[in-house]
Formats: sequence, C-alpha cells, structure tokens
Amino acid sequence: MRSVLLGAGSYLPKRVLTNAELAQRVDTSDEWIVERTGIRERRIAASDEKTSDLACTAALNAMKAAEREAKDIDLIIVATTTPDLTFPATAARVQAALGINQGAAFDLQAVCSGFIFALATADNFLVRGQAKTALVIGAETFSRLLDWEDRGTCILFGDGAGAVVLEAQEDARERGVISTFLRTDGRMHDLLYVDGGVSETGTIGKVRMVGNAVFRQAVEHISAAMLEACARADVSIDTVDWFVPHQANQRILDGVARRLGIDVDKVVSTVGVHGNTSAASVPLALDTAIRDGRIKAGDLVLMEALGGGLTWGAALVRM
Ligand code: ACO
Repeated sequence: MRSVLLGAGSYLPKRVLTNAELAQRVDTSDEWIVERTGIRERRIAASDEKTSDLACTAALNAMKAAEREAKDIDLIIVATTTPDLTFPATAARVQAALGINQGAAFDLQAVCSGFIFALATADNFLVRGQAKTALVIGAETFSRLLDWEDRGTCILFGDGAGAVVLEAQEDARERGVISTFLRTDGRMHDLLYVDGGVSETGTIGKVRMVGNAVFRQAVEHISAAMLEACARADVSIDTVDWFVPHQANQRILDGVARRLGIDVDKVVSTVGVHGNTSAASVPLALDTAIRDGRIKAGDLVLMEALGGGLTWGAALVRM
C-alpha cells in the first residue's frame, strides 16, 4: 500500500509587502534583506482573511488537480501555527467549509516543519488502511504573530497556504511517499518560539528568534534529514530529480546544497517572492514547480523542513 500524491494546490493573499515598505517601518534596507535572505517580497493576508480561508482555497485547487471531490476525502490534516481560534481545529472549519461530511480532521503543530510532519502522519493513516484519501494542508497567517518592530524577524515571514491530496493505492507502481524522517529536539526551544500562549500567558504572543543560531542548526539538521530519508529508502541522493525545501532563507538552501553536493538548478526556490510561510512553504513551492512544468509524473522529489521546537524532517516522494 502506498500513499500516492495525486495533486497539489496553493493560495497566496493578494497584498504584496515589499522590502522597501519594511524599510519604512524598521531600520533595514532592501539590499540587506536580499543579501542576507534572498527575500524580495512576501504576501500578507487581508484583515478579514483567516488561516482556514487560505487553507480552503489551496485545498480546492489541490482537489481539482487530483480530480477528487468532497465525497472522496476521509482525512484532513492542517499543519498550522496560526489557527483561526484556539479551538476547534482549523481543520474542522476547513472540513465544514468544503462540504466534507465524513472522516476525521485535525490540526498538527510542528511550526515550519508542519507540512512534513502532516505528510508523514497522513501516510501512516493511509498505509494502515485507516483512511483512503487525505487532504494534507499547510496554511499560515504568520504575519499575525510578528513583532513589526523587530527587524530580525518581521522581514522574514509571509502568509499563504498549500495542499496536496494523498490517496492509498495498492498497485501504485513505485509512485507515492517512499520514506519519511521526523525529529524533534525540545532542548532547542529557546532558539525560536512565541512569547505567549493560552496556558502560559493568556496572550497570543510574538515570534522570538536567535536567527544566527537557528541558521546553523538548519543547515546541519536539514542535510542530515535528507540523507536519512534517502537511506531509509535505499536511494542515493544523486538520483533525486527535485529538492523542495522549506523556504526560510536562500542562504540556508544554498548552504544545504553545497554541503550535499546538490546541483542548485534542482532546488526549487520560491523564498524570494513568498518569504517564509512556515508550514505552507513546502506545498507552496511544490505546487509552483508542478504548475510551471518542472516537476513531472515519475520524478523523485525530496522535501525537507526545520522549524520551532526545534523540529525537522524530510520526505521522499515519487510523483
Ligand atoms: N536589517 C539590517 N540589519 C539587521 C537586520 C535587518 N533586517 N536583522 C538583523 N540585523 C543586524 C543585527 O542586528 C546584527 O547587527 P549587529 O552586528 O550590529 O549586532 C547584524 O545584522 C548581524 O546579525 P545576525 O543575526 O548575525 O545576521 P545573520 O546574517 O545571521 O542574518 C537572519 C539574520 C536573516 C535572521 C539569519 O540569521 C536567518 O535567516 N536565520 C535563519 C532563521 C530562520 O530562517 N528562521 C525561520 C524559522 S526556522 C526556519 O524556517 C529554518
């Protein structure tokens, strides 16, 4: 039994926030941001746009690409750090809004690694026969967690959503999720966290980050996760057709590619125009590369991410 990736979809809010605009709010410049991160612009959700709205549009686009309807979906996992409400799960709202009247729906919280964790979770449900067709969504209104006076974080993040439809198939002919690797190390909590929450402060809080330390952890652990996902599948990393990384910083993408000897032309990069959209970034990049014709049926794709927790992981998928 394999979890076959039938289709992807995404959604970006209309409002573009440029580096030049940020330079009017905090002491920074377009030149500094581009040189240190590769980010030129990011999208910001409208005040009446919620994470579930972004998630629903991405999910509908993925269902269309997968040629699946509401009646087919019996599992929804929404990876998000920015739920509409503390409860119920954003996934429950997505389920109702899409007219899906069967199966389970829940949120998963692994910050920027959320989509990889959600993909691995859905894969386990499908392979065990506990669901047949899953919507795996990464959706964030991360702009609402930002301290707009902290130049070390507010320049990095943006809003968006991406989704895939996974279906359990018995005769998948090598297609589908081949291996996944997930890891959390809670000892590195203080490198990247939000300084508020229901139980500790009764507030929402803002993102706090030791950027240069996260950077070093990211290059090391992402590289190791990619090699581990390949080793678990007994696949050489040289045979991977496309790398779809979490879009945090172009220098992290380049650092990992250098470390593993990967051709940069095989690395899908959307960070310049999306910024870091946390759990949405991997499916947004995946959908971008499918739609522009780079990723095709039969290609071997390696996705990876690292985020708060710290959490990190990788997933190897044959399209
Ligand atoms: N504009 C101008 N100067 C800035 C800015 C800014 N936006 N932000 C920081 N600086 C300054 C700092 O204050 C510091 O000044 P000082 O030397 O006078 O003290 C100087 O730049 C160097 O600071 P560093 O933090 O060492 O700069 P670095 O080159 O590491 O770049 C950055 C900072 C872009 C945050 C980088 O560390 C980074 O991208 N880290 C990864 C973090 C990340 O992506 N987190 C997202 C979640 S986890 C993930 O997705 C992987």
